[in-house]
Amino acid sequence: MLVLGLETSCDETAAAVLKDGDTLLSNIINDQIGVHSPYGGIVPELAGRSHNERVHRVIKEAVVEAGVRLRDIDLIAVTMGPGLIGSLLVGLNTAKGLSYGLKIPMIGVNHLEGHLLAIFLQKKIQFPFIALIVSGGHTDLYRVSDFGRYKLLGRTRDDAAGESFDKVGKMLGLPYPGGPAIEKLARNGNGKAHKFPRAYLEKGSLDFSFSGLKTSVRTFLNRREKGNRLTLTDEDISAGFQDAVLDVLVDKLISACKKENLSRIVVTGGVASNGALRVAVGKAAQAYGFEASFPDPIFCTDNAAMIACAGHYKFARNQSSSTDFMGLDAKASLSIE
Ligand code: KG4
Ligand code: ZN
Repeated sequence: MLVLGLETSCDETAAAVLKDGDTLLSNIINDQIGVHSPYGGIVPELAGRSHNERVHRVIKEAVVEAGVRLRDIDLIAVTMGPGLIGSLLVGLNTAKGLSYGLKIPMIGVNHLEGHLLAIFLQKKIQFPFIALIVSGGHTDLYRVSDFGRYKLLGRTRDDAAGESFDKVGKMLGLPYPGGPAIEKLARNGNGKAHKFPRAYLEKGSLDFSFSGLKTSVRTFLNRREKGNRLTLTDEDISAGFQDAVLDVLVDKLISACKKENLSRIVVTGGVASNGALRVAVGKAAQAYGFEASFPDPIFCTDNAAMIACAGHYKFARNQSSSTDFMGLDAKASLSIE
């Protein structure tokens, strides 16, 4: 079974060909960093236009690299939400055109389910497990009982973890996206030079909040501009900020395992490519005898291989949705529960 995955929910135009759910034949990711970086963040209108210009070329590259022909594809899996509506529509309408022209089924995939199942591109994790999705738009904790069976345990009440990296990056004058740039600076900083606040919220809560931390960094930078705490470098601030985010993520992840009485953990989404987070989760998991898994960084940030993978499993359990492809609509918000 050959699945063509298509992902255009945000600022990556991506296509991948996946064979039998676990053999990845190609994974083309065309990012739009050059388009958005002059603005310090994603401009939705430009994202949609840019997907439009690139999507056919990216699909062609994916098919050529996989060494197959378009007519060999058995199923098209496309992100239908959540995401930027103008961006989602490009992928969805392209998929509809291909599906109609090639007379093959297509299936709409939830972007978050793609992140959750990305790990299955590399290894089969035994259900049930706890999953933490940390991306630019989401910070969600799930109990994953089976393919298609997800229970939300906690989520951010304001900024997503990746969003806070991006906003703090912008404050520090770093290029977009802020996450990788902050991680790089933090490597040469002292996280203990200034302790930024950790928002643990009410006792027992598995929700997150990162907007206070962001404000705290802003206040700190203002004071530094006025001449206070001049000795603290951008490296120290990056390390202090990153430590604060990581401490809360690790704490809630371990609490979720204890609460649900589960010992397997999957951490995924763009922020999961952060090396310090991977080390921190690995250490905590080891201390409690839990087993932590992370997709390779290339499968953590947005990609179409994870969409092909989630589409493969969704199609296997629910082939009927494929017949009604013309009725599929893009959804800016979409839950996976
Ligand atoms: O999953 P993703 O590619 O797109 C969304 O679905 O949002 O995640 C993008 C987010 C951005 O906020 C980016 O700054 C963050 O992931 N990110 C990182 C790192 N690499 C990407 N955050 C921290 N450390 C990184 N190394
Ligand atoms: Zn994503």
